[in-house]
Amino acid sequence: MIPPTIPPPTRPLSTIAILRFLLPIAIFLLSIAPILFHDVSIHQIHSLDDKLLRSHSKHRKSVEYYFNETELFGTHSSSLARSNITFPPDIGTAGKSLLLHALTPRSIPDEAFNPIYEQQRCVKYFSYENYNKSFLSYDPTILHKRRRLFLGSLIADDSWHALGALAMESYGIYEAVVFVESNRTQTGTPRKLRFVKGSEDYEMLVNQQLFGPNTKVLLDYYSYEGEIDGGGLIREHRQRALILELWKGAGMTVDDVGILSDADETPTRDFLRALQSCNFPELNLDQDCWSPKIVVASNVFEGSPECMTVTRKWMHPDVILGKCIEGIGSKEYQLTVEQRQRAYAWRKDEYSAKFNYSSWPKSKRQYPLWNPADFRRDTGGFVIYYEDVDYLPFRMGHTGFHFHNYFETTHQLRTKYRTYGHPVKSADNMSVSEIHPDLDLMADCVLGRPLEKNKHSTLSTRLAKFEGRIPIAYRLKGYSVARHLELRYILSEDERTWTAGTWHETEKGKEAESKKT
Ligand SMILES: *[C@@H]1O[C@H](CO)[C@@H](O)[C@H](O)[C@H]1NC(C)=O
Ligand SMILES: *[C@@H]1O[C@H](CO)[C@@H](O)[C@H](O)[C@H]1NC(C)=O
Ligand SMILES: *[C@@H]1O[C@H](CO)[C@@H](O)[C@H](O)[C@H]1NC(C)=O
Ligand SMILES: *[C@@H]1O[C@H](CO)[C@@H](O)[C@H](O)[C@H]1NC(C)=O
Ligand SMILES: *[C@@H]1O[C@H](CO)[C@@H](O)[C@H](O)[C@H]1NC(C)=O
Ligand SMILES: *[C@@H]1O[C@H](CO)[C@@H](O)[C@H](O)[C@H]1NC(C)=O
Repeated sequence: MIPPTIPPPTRPLSTIAILRFLLPIAIFLLSIAPILFHDVSIHQIHSLDDKLLRSHSKHRKSVEYYFNETELFGTHSSSLARSNITFPPDIGTAGKSLLLHALTPRSIPDEAFNPIYEQQRCVKYFSYENYNKSFLSYDPTILHKRRRLFLGSLIADDSWHALGALAMESYGIYEAVVFVESNRTQTGTPRKLRFVKGSEDYEMLVNQQLFGPNTKVLLDYYSYEGEIDGGGLIREHRQRALILELWKGAGMTVDDVGILSDADETPTRDFLRALQSCNFPELNLDQDCWSPKIVVASNVFEGSPECMTVTRKWMHPDVILGKCIEGIGSKEYQLTVEQRQRAYAWRKDEYSAKFNYSSWPKSKRQYPLWNPADFRRDTGGFVIYYEDVDYLPFRMGHTGFHFHNYFETTHQLRTKYRTYGHPVKSADNMSVSEIHPDLDLMADCVLGRPLEKNKHSTLSTRLAKFEGRIPIAYRLKGYSVARHLELRYILSEDERTWTAGTWHETEKGKEAESKKT
């Protein structure tokens, strides 16, 4: 049962040793919990990090930052003034400097394809197979060149801090990047289109080679004014259906790879390169699409680059070979509307690997194609991939990043919470901390307050001291601290206006607390 990384104990077990012993089982059970309980809205795994184990306590000093450090990130330099870029409104100086870097034409450092290096990269990535780690390899007889990757995402009021980091992470890698925007939110609330052709936002995203010199960027609009059977989630999946059309239009074929994500998520650059060259069974063209989905395990940043949570992982984006995607793979294997819960929705149980495709004709040589709802949810078979790292006890390193709750202004943030998937109707009347437990954690982290009351913890040092992979954008000297301090200013100003209640003081928060004890 136990992954082989844990040596058999030779001395009487200390508490830590027992914890270490039980942890892989706990992590495994927690990792399948969303699947067991059909909890498809919360794709996240709660895991424990080694620092928690070492210290046995969440009590710790908050990380120190000084306002004199904002100047480190060239925000006062004349390069901003000299550039001819017209920035969309509301972007602070840290964001403008980030975008200036992201828009600078540059060579693609890891462009050359070197089999020796590909080999070294591939053997670092693994998934669990019957509790055993199964490592990838590189096989030059199968693949002599990189697979083509296509990114697809919905887009709305995502912060440029998240979009800029996404673009820098993947610069020069994608064949095409496609976005779909709607003039209604997922709850159906009308919203003003942001990426209108000719606007600064549109120009920056689509026309300035933000994603690299050879990457096509396509943006389309989705609108639907009628009643939608199935509500918000179906609206979201209908909007995503347009992504598959854009992929097809951009030239995706059966041996290309689709990555379905939100605009604030990305695989790490190294994992993107792995997806292009390693021997993933899920990306083998000979497969039958029984369990084709690769799930990226992402580290979550709450609002600020300096607020990385260390007690959970986010199980997105999702990756599938073109052969198994609706619109790209053979029509012969496409499910009918009757074989799904409803139009545009996920498949019925008897057409998914979880229930062994019991209604799918045995005579067919391939299992059903995946629509965007299957792709994004946990219907059907999937495999989570981790990077083997030596700074964590179970070596389950992240393979992606989630830039959660990033925003330019607190007005934007409240609008998002008022109108998005799980709306908080009175968000306009609440302090940021009160709106949601994740925002409470963010505010405590950004304002340097104790974190004990929160369910999750953030890194106990500055990001620069973190042993693992960080986003390429956050390696720009001074950026992460400059943005953190900018945010500290924004949030402390906001708390002057809104009485500073916290989520824990709300009825919901107290309820959650009493359930725990
Ligand atoms: C910023 O201020 C702190 C505390 O006052 C000080 O220790 C540090 O040296 C200063 N850093 C710079 C770059 O001036
Ligand atoms: C800005 O525009 C001017 C005039 O069009 C041009 O001469 C200059 O080179 C541009 N500067 C940059 C940094 O692109
Ligand atoms: C897991 O790996 C061990 C050691 O390599 C092997 O003996 C065992 O059969 C494997 N278990 C499964 C379920 O594959
Ligand atoms: C959304 O756009 C469509 C197509 O342009 C239009 O018919 C519809 O009225 C718009 N809806 C809203 C809420 O603006
Ligand atoms: C589904 O099939 C697999 C492999 O054929 C088998 O190991 C598994 O037990 C089956 N699961 C169910 C729920 O029938
Ligand atoms: C917000 O507060 C104002 C003033 O107290 C009140 O009029 C309004 O109804 C409140 N809105 C919501 C959504 O709670």
